[in-house]
Amino acid sequence: MKPIISPSLLSADFYRLSQEVQSVQSADWLHVDVMDGHFVPNLTYGVPVVEALATQAPLPLDLHLMVSDPLCWVREFAGDLAAGRGGGIAFHYESCGDAAAVDACLSALEARPGIGRGLAIRPGTDPEVVLPWLERLDMVVVMTVEPGRGGQSFRADRLEAVRRIRQLIDRHNPACRLEVDGGIDGQTIAAAARAGADTFVAGTAIFRRSDRAQAIAELRGAAHV
Ligand code: DX5
Ligand code: ZN
Repeated sequence: MKPIISPSLLSADFYRLSQEVQSVQSADWLHVDVMDGHFVPNLTYGVPVVEALATQAPLPLDLHLMVSDPLCWVREFAGDLAAGRGGGIAFHYESCGDAAAVDACLSALEARPGIGRGLAIRPGTDPEVVLPWLERLDMVVVMTVEPGRGGQSFRADRLEAVRRIRQLIDRHNPACRLEVDGGIDGQTIAAAARAGADTFVAGTAIFRRSDRAQAIAELRGAAHV
């Protein structure tokens, strides 16, 4: 599967938001981390910012919801994406109290054809938890840092979870993407790709560089295994 590079806007200069978004347009998706100050301690973007990005950004949005009430925000943002250039939404397994809550979020997304459906797991969550939903998913997100902020070091102990999710995807839904998020750079992207990831979020590894197109091209090259 063709590798996808998804720059995380969290590491951008927010004073120059539109130029920062333009600077990564050679990427495939734009990763947008929605944090509610409750599921994780940090607060980031709300509806007006996501709406503006959904309609104005030159890339499909890769929304990553780190929120305590995923169903509310899945419904809200699916509408924004459908009205804009599309993309996908990943919500966290751990933010769903039970299986019915995961089902409800997926059903809300299934009501919007064309919007990708993603399920994310934190470090520490057993990768097997995704199995009951795998056939309804377009993407599984394996967090390779604790969610909440950019610029953390890649956790090599998560490669085992990536390998396990790769086995499950190959067996049950080969069209599903496997995204890794956290600490991805020129070195760690190769290790994640070898373990079976095909979709890569990178925040600081792209936005700390002055030539973003070059940073994206380098990551793309290193993701080919
Ligand atoms: C962390 C976010 C990540 C983060 C990645 O909670 O989900 O998307 O922005 O940033 P880097 O690539 O700097 O680890
Ligand atoms: Zn993220």
